[in-house]
Amino acid sequence: MGKVIAIANQKGGVGKTTTSINLAASLVKTRRRVLLVDLDPQGNATMGSGIDKNAIELSTYEVLIGIGEIQKACVTVEGGYDVVPTNSNLAGAEVELVNLDRREVRLRLALESVRDDYDFILIDCPPSLSLLTVNAFAAAQTVMIPMQCEYFALEGLTDLIQTIRLVRQNLNPELEIEGLLRTMYDPRNNLANEVSAQLREHFGDKLYRTIIPRNVRLAEAPSFGKPVISYDMQSKGAQAYLALAGEILRREEAA
Ligand SMILES: Nc1ncnc2c1ncn2[C@@H]1O[C@H](COP(=O)(O)OP(=O)(O)OP(=O)(O)O)[C@@H](O)[C@H]1O
Ligand SMILES: [Mg+2]
Repeated sequence: MGKVIAIANQKGGVGKTTTSINLAASLVKTRRRVLLVDLDPQGNATMGSGIDKNAIELSTYEVLIGIGEIQKACVTVEGGYDVVPTNSNLAGAEVELVNLDRREVRLRLALESVRDDYDFILIDCPPSLSLLTVNAFAAAQTVMIPMQCEYFALEGLTDLIQTIRLVRQNLNPELEIEGLLRTMYDPRNNLANEVSAQLREHFGDKLYRTIIPRNVRLAEAPSFGKPVISYDMQSKGAQAYLALAGEILRREEAA
């Protein structure tokens, strides 16, 4: 059965989608079967994977509302992984879900039918602690938290950790933190090094050793609808995400 990882941080622009796309492609390089679920109405993971979000037949929206089968929504992309794509229709799902029964576990129920088809299922969450994110946490075994090492970085984590705790109490007792990932890292920045040290102190081994540097290739690749390893394999960004996939797999083996 595939491992389901929610990639989440309610702070915007921290690298959730970049991590979703590039980790998916890097895991494929190691011959893992990967599904990426785009759970953000912005549809960035959809577009960044090379799918036109304005030409989707079935999306995460239909899957959550219960009018579309997840198998039929899956699209295989150039990066070698499958995507359940999304567009702004998903914003409406938030409102509609409130009136449906079992509204927090809709994604979990949908994923049950495809979990055997994949080694990893990654969920790209929106920048909020909304019902969509709660669906991701209810469906996931672990939460991966990408973050920039800025001032207030630790404060921002409090609400996220509290939400994870609530979901654990009420919906998904198995939910764990997969790891914290430092993104857009600039080692010349003293503050980044200080925050990094604080994260190590608070989270110990949960902090990945792999660090994602600021790298322009990572920012360019989505405009070509490709993961960075298809766009510039030699770039620091590509190498960093390949290293992250390696670190995750080594942890899995050790567990
Ligand atoms: N390591 C990096 N180096 C350079 N640019 C990056 C890096 N990671 C992400 N970016 C760029 O930063 C911006 C935000 O990244 P991304 O979209 O992955 O964040 P996000 O957390 O998914 O944002 P949102 O909260 O809006 O969903 C994008 O333009 C992306 O291309
Ligand atoms: Mg995003």
